[in-house]
Amino acid sequence: MEKIRIKDTELNVFMKGEGLPVLFVHGFPFDHRLFLPICDRLSEVCQCIVPDLRGFGGSELSDEISVCTMERYAEDLAELLDALGIKREIFLCGLSMGGYIAMEFARKYEDRLARLILCSTRTDPDTEEEKAKRLHLAETVGTTGMGPIADSMIPNLLCAKTREFSPSTVDYVREMIVSQNPKGVAAAARGMAQRKDTTELLKTMKPSLLFISGQEDRITSPERMCKLAKIVPDAGFFTVEDCAHLGPLEFPLIFGDVIRFSVFVHDLLRQDMYTGFPIVFSRNFGLF
Ligand code: MLT
Repeated sequence: MEKIRIKDTELNVFMKGEGLPVLFVHGFPFDHRLFLPICDRLSEVCQCIVPDLRGFGGSELSDEISVCTMERYAEDLAELLDALGIKREIFLCGLSMGGYIAMEFARKYEDRLARLILCSTRTDPDTEEEKAKRLHLAETVGTTGMGPIADSMIPNLLCAKTREFSPSTVDYVREMIVSQNPKGVAAAARGMAQRKDTTELLKTMKPSLLFISGQEDRITSPERMCKLAKIVPDAGFFTVEDCAHLGPLEFPLIFGDVIRFSVFVHDLLRQDMYTGFPIVFSRNFGLF
């Protein structure tokens, strides 16, 4: 891990590999560990850059910040690329909240993107009920701590098979959640409650788009993601069987290989993915 100085803070960043930069943006309430299981193989073909967002993992949050908007995280990512001296176009891969941030990054820094990979995410803003839940979490997490949040989230984050057959994945996710700083979690929850609708942005997006979802995802269903993919001409849509919200941990091999394939063909063809219908990867068949 490296500490990289950006304008007003330092980000904790995992980096591995060389070549095309692929910047990974984790969801809520996680950190770079969400993507570690896919980075070993992927780093053979690209440069994996996996920061802890401000207030998560080993990245700090100063006391005066109580709200982190998706725009602010996106600016942090642009500053991180500047600090690393990366001027070429990158792949940006965001999962769930990471997808909200990736869309804001695309709004502001579209020219820096060769491809946007949106995993288990959505583009519509919160309903009033969802906002109220987030604000309640933000107000209470300081006293409850992260344990109850982990317990309530895990059944939706991991599918039944993962929970039954892979206790080590469950422990990994739980440990990652309970280790988060409640202040960072509260700031992100408030920021998500304020996020804008980015659906319209998809229609005019210049970088190519790839959507990946888990078939058992109850937080962002594959049907919902498939609808989004259909908005975008020539977008790719992949869905992984026996997988819920956390594909990089539930099926690292398949999840990583979809991205690897995407990196591999990038220089050969721009529009390399099938369009208009979902491609399902099952437990028994990898991509290669
Ligand atoms: C995430 O995984 O980042 C969350 O499910 C996003 C959200 O709460 O909307």
